[in-house]
Amino acid sequence: MSPYAHITGWGMAIPDRVLTNAELAQMVDTTDEWIVSRTGIRERRIAEDDQTTASLATEAALNAISVANLSPMDIDLIIVATSSPEHLFPATACLVQNSIGATKAGAFDLLAACTGFIYALNMASQAIATGSAKTAVVIGSETLSRLIDWQDRSTCILFGDGAGAFVLQASEEPAGLLSAVMRSDGSGADLLSLPAGGSALPTSIDTVNEGLHFISMSGREVYRFATRVMTQATEEAVKKAGLKITDIDLVVPHQANQRIIETALKNLKIPLERCVINLDRYGNTSTASIPIAACEALQDGKIRPGDRLVFVGFGSGLTWGAAVVQWSGPFPTRIRMIPGIIRFYARVRSLLLRLLRFFDSFFWDRFYNND
Ligand code: ACO
Repeated sequence: MSPYAHITGWGMAIPDRVLTNAELAQMVDTTDEWIVSRTGIRERRIAEDDQTTASLATEAALNAISVANLSPMDIDLIIVATSSPEHLFPATACLVQNSIGATKAGAFDLLAACTGFIYALNMASQAIATGSAKTAVVIGSETLSRLIDWQDRSTCILFGDGAGAFVLQASEEPAGLLSAVMRSDGSGADLLSLPAGGSALPTSIDTVNEGLHFISMSGREVYRFATRVMTQATEEAVKKAGLKITDIDLVVPHQANQRIIETALKNLKIPLERCVINLDRYGNTSTASIPIAACEALQDGKIRPGDRLVFVGFGSGLTWGAAVVQWSGPFPTRIRMIPGIIRFYARVRSLLLRLLRFFDSFFWDRFYNND
């Protein structure tokens, strides 16, 4: 039988800098009352200059690896779901691979906007189910504050920075990811996008002057789409797992808007107490919002081994999806991993590899390359 992908480690990373609604009201024509009543958001975190999507992802991954008590060398696969990658290429996941010293891991980025973490969770679970990986790290990480027009009140109030990560491990025990649905509708691609900076519209003075390097969104239409698909995706994933909505202990939704979450829960007849909401403190952290909400629910003792959870989200693309998970917790192990030591070892290793490459090219030029 195919192995199951259990979630055995989790971690998050959020910047210290808090940006409140009151501060935003001094930057654009808005009020705390408008933002809270329309979205539920009260404050969000903003990355410091030296924090990036990769650095937040690394911190979250190290925390998750230490909860799972794994060595970075045990990791076969790293997927970073992000809409604000460090660069167009190389993949942010490769930078994380280097920072944590995961010497045996394949690493790639996945772009499905705010649904990215659910897509990545499913892809990593499929890799485990087919035997191509035994241990995977799935990360959602964003610094969307760098892609926002801070003069556009319709978008700048929504987003925040942060990262969350899960470790997935193979086990014959039937638990972990029980089902997932992934959906898309590219006919709505223009509703939420970052128009310039890709191959269709490379960055130029004109694109910058026109502000096309900032997030552009039709909020109303995204809102309507979101309430519909959050309900549908949850129902589909629960059915696919062979369960009923009443079997679900906790819903961990994408944290975009309190009203979207409440409408979806109402449609599903799930009481608010069986849902994690922390967008009041972090805003919409896109791919990071589900793992951050899960980490906080774990800290608060709202998730216990054996619990059945639904992760559900939507985003640009358009994309949407849901996953049903039976929670496991860390596998028993005798080693104790400390994030600082892993990071130190990875730095030394990375330095040695660079030196090795330097000497390699030096000797190659001297002795072999006669051009
Ligand atoms: N402060 C005060 N007024 C505002 C603000 C603001 N920050 N923003 C917009 N307004 C005004 C508008 O100009 C408009 O004024 P008008 O009636 O005079 O024209 C009025 O408020 C209503 O604007 P709407 O856009 O219709 O407001 P709505 O109730 O739809 O709320 C919101 C806007 C919060 C953006 C909502 O539509 C929403 O949450 N949509 C979903 C967005 C979302 O979740 N995006 C993330 C997707 S995930 C991803 O992939 C990143």
